[in-house]
Amino acid sequence: MSTTDIGPKGPVGQVGEAVVDYVDDRTGAKTGITWFLKRNIPAETSWFQTLGFAAMAVFGLQAVTGIFLAMYYKPDTARAYASIEHITNDVTWGWLVRGMHKWGASAMIVLVFLHMGRVFIFGSYKYPRELTWVTGAILLIMTMFMGLTGYLLVWDEKAYWATVVAMNITASAPILGPYVADVLRAGPEFGPDTLSRFYSIHMLAIPGGLATFIGLHLFLVAKLGISEPPHSHRLARVRRAEEAARRAAARDRQPYGRRQVTPETSPQTISAEGGQ
Ligand code: HEM
Repeated sequence: MSTTDIGPKGPVGQVGEAVVDYVDDRTGAKTGITWFLKRNIPAETSWFQTLGFAAMAVFGLQAVTGIFLAMYYKPDTARAYASIEHITNDVTWGWLVRGMHKWGASAMIVLVFLHMGRVFIFGSYKYPRELTWVTGAILLIMTMFMGLTGYLLVWDEKAYWATVVAMNITASAPILGPYVADVLRAGPEFGPDTLSRFYSIHMLAIPGGLATFIGLHLFLVAKLGISEPPHSHRLARVRRAEEAARRAAARDRQPYGRRQVTPETSPQTISAEGGQ
């Protein structure tokens, strides 16, 4: 297999092509990437259908800024707040990276909700995309959990008490509530283990889950294709043609359908002549 020829290649181009062909022969990566990226999309696809991608881009940004924050953050109740102050005041560009991560969290939640709203209003969750919706709902829950677990990490008064309230609400849920709250708190009380647990969930468990489910979500999007917007002109033409065909079929089946009724055969003429 060889890459598309667009003219003579220099030595660098030739090496690049050889590497691409080597990898493709052994993995089929080019075929996979082509399948994923070179898809037909409905003619009237608009900016509304870019919200999911926007949420994904912010997730990528959160992952990158999070890696840099984790280099300086100390998940220890005695040092956590001081490490946040150090990031903000001393580390080069620390204030910017922290600000991007903080605002990025809110932006991601807003974008995920807008994306879900668009999917709902366009009816894109209907057959055959039900599982895309289910994987999306799991992504929404995980995104909200990222917000909850990240909020505590600052370990100031606001973070502490806001999370205490969230845990009390969780504990008040029927049956499983108290157990879930105990698992999250790492015991009945808030303490050093709570902070480590939130840090581990925030840093490892949920990002891993998010990456996995985003992969699954995107696989379904690529496999099923983007749904046609409800205002699509093509869809309206198809619906009109279907409706006309349905009416024609129904009319042909009726004994007194418009086609058969003539002055001679109309019910009024028949009854006036004394017929049945
Ligand atoms: C981290 C969160 C999420 C990410 C990164 C994400 C990403 C994406 C992307 C990139 C697409 C392709 C089209 C587009 O951009 O609109 C898409 C489509 C879709 N998403 Fe999401 N999504 C997320 C959350 C959700 C949620 C919360 C739901 C619903 C509960 C959902 C349901 C769907 C459905 C049904 C489609 C197919 C839409 C169509 O075919 O028109 N997604 N998603």
